[in-house]
Order: sequence, then C-alpha cells, then structure tokens
Amino acid sequence: MQEKNKSVGIIGIGSYVPDKIITNKDLEKIVETSDEWIVDRTGIKERRVVEPNITTSDLAAYAAEKALCDAGVTADDIDLIIVATATPDMLFPSTACLVQDKIKASKAAAFDLSAGCSGFAYGLVVGSQFIQTGLYKKVLVIGAETLSKILDWTDRNTCVLFGDGAGAVVLGEVPAGYGILGVDLGADGSGGELLKIPAGGSRQPATVESVTARQHFLQMSGSDVFKFAIKVMGEAAIKALDNAGLSNEDIDCLIPHQANNRIIQSAAKRLKVPMEKVVVNVDKYGNTSAASIPLAMDEAIKNDKLQNGDIVVLVGFGAGLTWASCVMKWYKEGKSIV
Ligand code: ACO
Repeated sequence: MQEKNKSVGIIGIGSYVPDKIITNKDLEKIVETSDEWIVDRTGIKERRVVEPNITTSDLAAYAAEKALCDAGVTADDIDLIIVATATPDMLFPSTACLVQDKIKASKAAAFDLSAGCSGFAYGLVVGSQFIQTGLYKKVLVIGAETLSKILDWTDRNTCVLFGDGAGAVVLGEVPAGYGILGVDLGADGSGGELLKIPAGGSRQPATVESVTARQHFLQMSGSDVFKFAIKVMGEAAIKALDNAGLSNEDIDCLIPHQANNRIIQSAAKRLKVPMEKVVVNVDKYGNTSAASIPLAMDEAIKNDKLQNGDIVVLVGFGAGLTWASCVMKWYKEGKSIV
C-alpha cells in the first residue's frame, strides 16, 4: 500500500462541452469516410467542436466554475490550479494562469501539465501530493482541450477521432480510507514520434513552409498507438490496484480514457470487468484527450453510477507516450456510505 499523510479525494466535479455537434455524416461531406467505418472502427458517432472565438481556457473555466459549485467552495479557496492540456491557448503563458484570471482565483498558484490524454490522471496524482503533504488544502485539476483547432480537417486518419470539451475537479481532504488509494504513472519517450504536432516549438519554429506543409496539425500513427494502448491500459490499472492493496476483482467502476471503443473493450476484458461497470461516452464526444476522463466521470456521477464506498479506477494513455492510472474509494459528502 502506498504510504500517505492525508487522504485526498475529489470533493467537487464539473464538465462542459460546446453546443456544436459534428456527426459522422457531416464528416462524410469533407473527407472520404463513412459513418459505418467510423462507428465500426472507433465507436464514435458524433463530437463537439467550439466556435472559432472560443479557447481552451474558456472551456476550462466553465468546467471549473461547475466543479467549485459542486464542491461548495469559492475560487478564493483554491490554492493551486493545474490544467492538463495538449491544446493550450498559447505556448505561454500557461492556460492555468488564464483560467486563474477568468475564475478570479487570485490566491492560487497555477501551471500546465503536458502528458497528452493521460494528463488529467497525471494531474490528479500531482495535485494530490500538495494536499497530502499539507502544503495546500484545495487544488483544482482541469483537463481541457480544443482539439478541433489542431486537427488537419483534410486527414481522415485523424479528423474523425477527436472532439472538444473540459472536465474539472476540486481535490481536498476526505475521511481516512477514502479518496486516492493507489496510482501508477509512466512514460516511454521513445514513442514520442507516434503522436505529435511537429512544428511550432523550438525544434521546428513556425515558418511559411511549415504552415504550407501542414506541420502545425496533429499527426498520429494510429495503429502503433492502438497497440500501445491495448497493452498499457490493463497493466497500468493492475499496478495502481496493486499499489492500493486491491485487485481487479475489487473494481466497481472503470473509467478509461475515451479514445476508441475497441480499446476500452479490450481494457475491460483484460481486467475482467463487465461492460456494465465501464463508463463509455466516446460515441457522443470522440476523443477529448485530457478532458475525456473527467467528462466521463461527471457523466457517471450524474447517472448515479458512483456510490460512496465504490472502488473507481481511472486509466489513460496518450502522447509522450504516457500512461496513468488512479484508484479511488469514492466519497462525496452528504451521500450515504455503502
Ligand atoms: N474513414 C475510412 N477509412 C479510413 C479512415 C476513415 N476515417 N481512417 C483510416 N482509414 C483507412 C486507412 O487509410 C486504412 O486504409 P488502407 O488499408 O487502404 O491503408 C484502413 O482504413 C485501415 O486503417 P487502420 O489504421 O489499420 O485502421 P484501424 O482499425 O487501426 O483503426 C484507428 C484506425 C481508429 C486510428 C485506430 O488505429 C486507433 O484508434 N488508434 C488509436 C488512436 C488513439 O487512441 N489516439 C489517441 C491517443 S491519445 C492522445 O494523447 C491524443
């Protein structure tokens, strides 16, 4: 069992998706694809996209306001804001600083965390450390993305897969034995080339040529990422459960990163978790990267799928390559304990 000083858990949650829906039928009009291919290979039916004037920090701030309200705290109570994103408003300043200003959390420290689709689960682990050590009391962890802005809408291999959205949680102290019980974080930087935006950083600064060559859009070797995901999802969850002194048989609810229904089903099979215990909403939102796990979790809570005392496993994988899993014993104040 991983040793800790205080028990830390999610004390409030909120999410936000833009209103605009792009269906698979809409995509048939812009790239050579079909609703049948997309549903069959990914499970995605539609995704949300922002209007051009809306940024990642806007979505993050909307989700954060809801999480604060759910937790019954104000922005003034927040000591730290962590935004996990692959689509920051700008290279710098951090999106977390922009969110800090938008929600008026003037006492909070703020930074971004880059771990691709694993970013939210990474953020939970990082944020919880500050509370466990007693340095901070309340930490806001947000996963937010406007992937529609970095997609090459002429590339059918990628543009059908992703969507925009945000999810946020407030972390705080919970009764002993509840909250985060075990975690597993990992990375394999040798796979960095498999999922990337090649230009716009120090390696290949923006030039007319880089723009013309579409180097500022997301590029992915889908089948390699698929194989990696199939392997790592189950392994990471098992390690986190082991660190919590639990096993796959203890799982009441599995909330995997929502990238592809086939990956989700494979993870569930490896963990021997029946699909009734797995939260799936990839059909409605596509892959929202760092936002996908908190979006799915918020939906699960609204649908009454999480009861106090339940063992919940979050597991994600993403660009880096990275993976992250977090095992929690669910606790929400005011709800009866099972
Ligand atoms: N419509 C129709 N055909 C398509 C489409 C499309 N939208 N996209 C690809 N195809 C074609 C390919 O061109 C290929 O054709 P070819 O055989 O003539 O070359 C064929 O379909 C099969 O392609 P595969 O790549 O083998 O298809 P696969 O079954 O592997 O599915 C997919 C592709 C959905 C991308 C899958 O590999 C996948 O989900 N990978 C993981 C992606 C992922 O999760 N990424 C997110 C990582 S997290 C992060 O940090 C952002």
